[in-house]
Order: sequence, then structure tokens, then C-alpha cells
Amino acid sequence: MKKIVVFASGSGSNFEAIQQAILNKKINAKIELVVCDKQKAFVLQRAINHNIESLYVNLKKCGSKEVYEQIIVDKLDEIKPDLICLAGYMKRIDKTILNKYEGKIINIHPALLPSFKGAHGISDAFNYGCRVFGVTVHYVNENFDEGKIIMQRAFEYNGSDINEVEEMIHKIEHVLYVESINKII
Ligand code: GRF
Repeated sequence: MKKIVVFASGSGSNFEAIQQAILNKKINAKIELVVCDKQKAFVLQRAINHNIESLYVNLKKCGSKEVYEQIIVDKLDEIKPDLICLAGYMKRIDKTILNKYEGKIINIHPALLPSFKGAHGISDAFNYGCRVFGVTVHYVNENFDEGKIIMQRAFEYNGSDINEVEEMIHKIEHVLYVESINKII
């Protein structure tokens, strides 16, 4: 069975969607670990709820990004994951992790890349006045939000409520991430 590690910093609704797909036998894999950089992130509670191990690493206490990433790499080397899924992980993946795991790391972004990179994809697209929104799943490389695209899904929206857009995007994310994982594994 394939081993998945999820990196997340926040609510973890994408982690939950992946785990539910596993429980419903829509993905033939196991989430071995959740890596998190925020002590209060709800994803940590979700991991407990599913009896999944988590690793919280505090960057400030590590002193440098290299040390921070090395702690994560040591754990990854023990697990030997087939796939690493970034799901709302708010840090850049640097060399220490990439040198060993590039090609196995994917990310989900709430916009149609290469448009609206960065941490505010939804509001940036909305404030631009877009009428088509969407989600991208892509490989992770050294350039933020720039790796090879795996899957994208778009929808038209002509209303004026950003909350509605956000809701539609998250709904798509939870389906598209599962489809993308299956495409790879
Ligand atoms: C998602 O919108 C994802 O596309 C972005 O961060 C958000 C994470 O949401 N990278 P959640 O923590 O999975 O609920």
C-alpha cells in the first residue's frame, strides 16, 4: 500500500478529504504522517481524530530553515513516503527537502496557475474581476507555485460574493486532490 505524508498549516479540510477517500476505499493508500508548522492548526486535531501521527516543528526554535527541514527529512526518511501532499502548507519547500524528495511532492492551489500564484489566490482572482475560477494540482519545485501541472478544474462564476467563490473552490479541491493522487499512485 502506498504511503502518503500530508503537510498542512491550517484547517486541514483537504487532509480530511484525502483521509475520507482512503476510508471510503477511493484511494488505495495510507496517510502515515501529518507535518505541521503551526501548533494551533486544526489539522493537528483532525490527525488525532483519525489516529494519524503528526509532527509539529517550530521554525523559530530551529533557528534556521535548514535545521527545520532536516528534522522533517529525518522523519520522512524513516517513513519513505511514496507521495507528499501539501495541503494548505504555508511555507516554501527548500533544498533540504527538495534534494531528496523532488518529484514526489505535490501541491493544491486555489487558482488556475500560472495566474494568481501566492497565498491569496482566491481573493486576488476575485478582486481582479475574474469570471472563471479554478483549482490547480501541481508538482512542487524550487519556484513557488510553478511546478508541472497535474490537473486543473475551472468553473464560471458571474456573481459578486467571494464567500460563494471560496465555497465552490474548496468543493472542487476536495474532489480534484483525490483524483490527482489516484492519477499518480
Ligand atoms: C486550500 O485552499 C489550498 O488550495 C491552499 O490552502 C487551502 C488549505 O485549506 N493551498 P485546508 O487547510 O485544506 O482546509
